[in-house]
Amino acid sequence: MKVTVFGIGYVGLVQAAVLAEVGHDVVCVDVDQNKVNNLKKGIIPIYEPGLTPLVNSNFEAGRVVFTTDAAQGIKHGDVIFIAVGTPPDEDGSADLKYVLAVASSVAANMQSHKIIINKSTVPVGTADKVTAKITEVLKKNGKDVSFDVVSNPEFLKEGAAVNDCMRPDRIILGTTSERSEKKLRELYAPFNRNHDKIIIMDVRSAELTKYAANCMLATKISFMNEMANLAEKFGADIENVRKGIGSDPRIGYQFIYPGCGYGGSCFPKDVQALIRSATAVGYDAKVLQAVEAVNYRQKEKLFDYIMRHYNNDVKGKTIALWGLSFKPNTDDMREASSRVLMEKLWEQGAKVQAYDPEAMQETQRIYGSRPDLSLMGTKEASLNNASCLAICTEWQAFRAPDFDLIKRAISDDVIFDGRNLFEPSIVSEHGLQYYAIGRGMSVVPVV
Ligand SMILES: NC(=O)c1ccc[n+]([C@@H]2O[C@H](COP(=O)([O-])OP(=O)(O)OC[C@H]3O[C@@H](n4cnc5c(N)ncnc54)[C@H](O)[C@@H]3O)[C@@H](O)[C@H]2O)c1
Repeated sequence: MKVTVFGIGYVGLVQAAVLAEVGHDVVCVDVDQNKVNNLKKGIIPIYEPGLTPLVNSNFEAGRVVFTTDAAQGIKHGDVIFIAVGTPPDEDGSADLKYVLAVASSVAANMQSHKIIINKSTVPVGTADKVTAKITEVLKKNGKDVSFDVVSNPEFLKEGAAVNDCMRPDRIILGTTSERSEKKLRELYAPFNRNHDKIIIMDVRSAELTKYAANCMLATKISFMNEMANLAEKFGADIENVRKGIGSDPRIGYQFIYPGCGYGGSCFPKDVQALIRSATAVGYDAKVLQAVEAVNYRQKEKLFDYIMRHYNNDVKGKTIALWGLSFKPNTDDMREASSRVLMEKLWEQGAKVQAYDPEAMQETQRIYGSRPDLSLMGTKEASLNNASCLAICTEWQAFRAPDFDLIKRAISDDVIFDGRNLFEPSIVSEHGLQYYAIGRGMSVVPVV
C-alpha cells in the first residue's frame, strides 16, 4: 500500500519504518532538511532500541524514502499520516499549527481521493478542524476531490517504540467511513494476525481515548507520589506500600513507582491540554489539575532533599548526576526531571557533573557549553571530586553500582535517589547516607 507520513519524529519515523518493514511503500516528509539529509546517510536523529537497523534496511531496500517535498509525498500516498508535533500553546492547550499546515498542504496538492490520518495527539474536535481546513483550501483552488479524515492515535512508549508499533496492544480507528475502515484494516492486517486488535469508534471518542489513556497513567504516578510524600511524613516506607497495593489485581503493579516526577513529550503536555479543553467546554477538571500540580512539586523533590541536607547552601558544591533523559532507553530530555534539578542547582551556585548512557548529546544541544555543567564519559568519572550523587533516571546501568567506589569518590558520603533504585539498608552498610522518595526511614542519618 502507498503510504505517506508527515513528521519524522519519534512517532512518524517509527511508524514509517514498521509499515515499510511489513512491505508497505512509504514516503516520509519533514520540514527539517538537516534531518532528511542525515536519514538519507543512515544517521538516525533519535535513540530508540532497534530503530537504526530497521530504518536503514528499509531505506536500502527502497521501501522508505525521505524528502522535504510535500507535493511528492501527497502524490504518492493513498493514506497520509499526520505525525507532526502538537506542542503546548502559551496557555497549555495543544498548538495545532503544524497539523493544520499539513492539512493545507495536502489540500493544495491532492489530485485523487486520500485518507488523512491524525496520528498526532490532538484535542477532541481536531478531525473536524482538519476537514474544514482541507475543504476551505480545495474550494479556494476550485478543486473537487473526495477525502476522509480518520483519527488513529498512537500509543507507543519511547524506549520500546519499535516493539510497541510491531505488536500494538490496540489499534484505535476513529471513523464512520466504511471505505476508510476497509482500507485501514488492510493497512494494519500484518499487525492484527494474533487476534483482532482494531477497535472502531467515532472520531471524537478516538481523540479522547488517547488523552484519557495518558491522563490515567499520569494520575497513577501522581497518586503514588502523593502516597510517597505521606509515607515520608508518617515514617512509613512507600516501597512496602507499593508491594502491598500492587498485589490487588484491581490496582496492579504497573505504573505505581514513586519517583521525582514524570516528564517526556506526552504526559505533561497531554494532561495540560485536556485541562484546557475541559475548560473550553465549561468543565473544571479537578483530578487532572491535581495530577499536574503534584507532578510539578515532585520534580523539585530531589532539589529539596539536597537543600535540606546542606542547610540551604550548595554554592560551590559539585553534584554528580546520573541520568538526564526523562526515562531510560531514550535520549529524549523533554520535560525531564533532571532539567528541573540542574537548573535549580545552578541558580544556587552549584555545579553539575553529569552522565547519561544516551542523552549527553541532547543535553549539550539544550544547554550548550557552560562552566557549571560537565558531561562525563562514564558514570564513575562523574563522581570524581563531587560532593554527592543524585540520580534522576532509572537506567539499568545504575542499578547495581559499586558503593565502595562511590564512597571513595564523593566527599560527603550521600546519595539522593529520585528513582528508588537501591535497598536503603545496603546503601547504609557501605557508610553512605541515602535519600530516596517516600522511604521516610531511610533519610534518618547514618550513625
Ligand atoms: N513521542 C511519543 O512518545 C509519542 C507517543 C504517542 C503520541 N505522540 C504524539 O505524536 C505527535 C508527534 O510526536 P513526536 O514525539 O514524534 O514529535 P517530534 O517533535 O519528535 O517530531 C515531529 C516532527 O514533525 C516535523 N514537522 C513539523 N511540521 C511539519 C510539517 N508541516 N510537515 C512535515 N513535518 C513537520 C518536525 O520537523 C519533527 O521532525 C505529537 O502529537 C505527540 O503528542 C508522541
